[in-house]
Amino acid sequence: MEATFLGHAAVRLSDGKTTILIDPFLTDNPQASIKAEDVEADYIVLTHGHGDHVGDTVAIAKRCNATCIATYELALWLQNQGCEVHPMGIGGAFDFPFGSVRYTIAHHSSGASELGDRYVGNPAGVIIDFGGKLIHHAGDTALTYDMKLIAERFKIDLAFLPIGSNFTMDIDDAVKATGFIQPSKVVPVHYNTWPPIAADPQEFAEKVRAQTKAEPVILEPMQTVEI
Ligand code: NI
Ligand code: MN
Repeated sequence: MEATFLGHAAVRLSDGKTTILIDPFLTDNPQASIKAEDVEADYIVLTHGHGDHVGDTVAIAKRCNATCIATYELALWLQNQGCEVHPMGIGGAFDFPFGSVRYTIAHHSSGASELGDRYVGNPAGVIIDFGGKLIHHAGDTALTYDMKLIAERFKIDLAFLPIGSNFTMDIDDAVKATGFIQPSKVVPVHYNTWPPIAADPQEFAEKVRAQTKAEPVILEPMQTVEI
C-alpha cells in the first residue's frame, strides 16, 4: 500500500488494485502538482465540506464513477450534484471491498461555500482500513483528548495530521495529538498552502522524534510513503 501526498490535505491511497482519494482539492490548490483530470479514483473519502477539502470531488467522481464516502449531509449534497455516495456518521464504520472506513471526531466546522456556506454535516476525521493497514486522516481539527481513544482500540500505521494553525492544530498541538494517537508514522499536512497557515514541517518532525515514538515523514506534493 502506498500513500501519495497531493498537496494541502489531499492524499491518494493505492494498493495497485483500488485507488482512494482523501479530500481531493487540486484545482486552485497552490501546492497541487497533478491536475484533477489526471487522477483516477475508485472511492473518494471526504472529511468535511470546506472547499479546500471537497475540491474537485464532483468532477473526479463523475468521470471515474467513484463512490463518495462522506458524513450524512455532505453525502446528500454530493448526491444532489449527481455523485454516487455512501453516507456515514461519526463513530460509525462500514466494510467496503477494499477494507473499511470509520469516522472519528474533529472539532471544526463544515459548510459548502458553493451553496452559500450552507451547513453540510459534521466535520470529521477518518480511519481507513486498507487491506489490513490502518490510515488515519484527522481532517481539520483542534487537539482533542478524544484522540486517545483511537490508540486504545487501533494501531494506526500512518497518520495525516494538520499542523498549520489558524484553522486547525498548530505544531505543538499536532505533536501532542501524535502522542495521543500513537501512529507508527505521521505526515504533517494543511500547512504552507497560504500565508495564514505557514508552518515549518522540520520543527514538527524534530518535536515528534523528541516527544513521541512515531516516525515523522515529511512529504512534498506527489511524494509517496509505503506502509
Ligand atoms: Ni476546514
Ligand atoms: Mn481546511
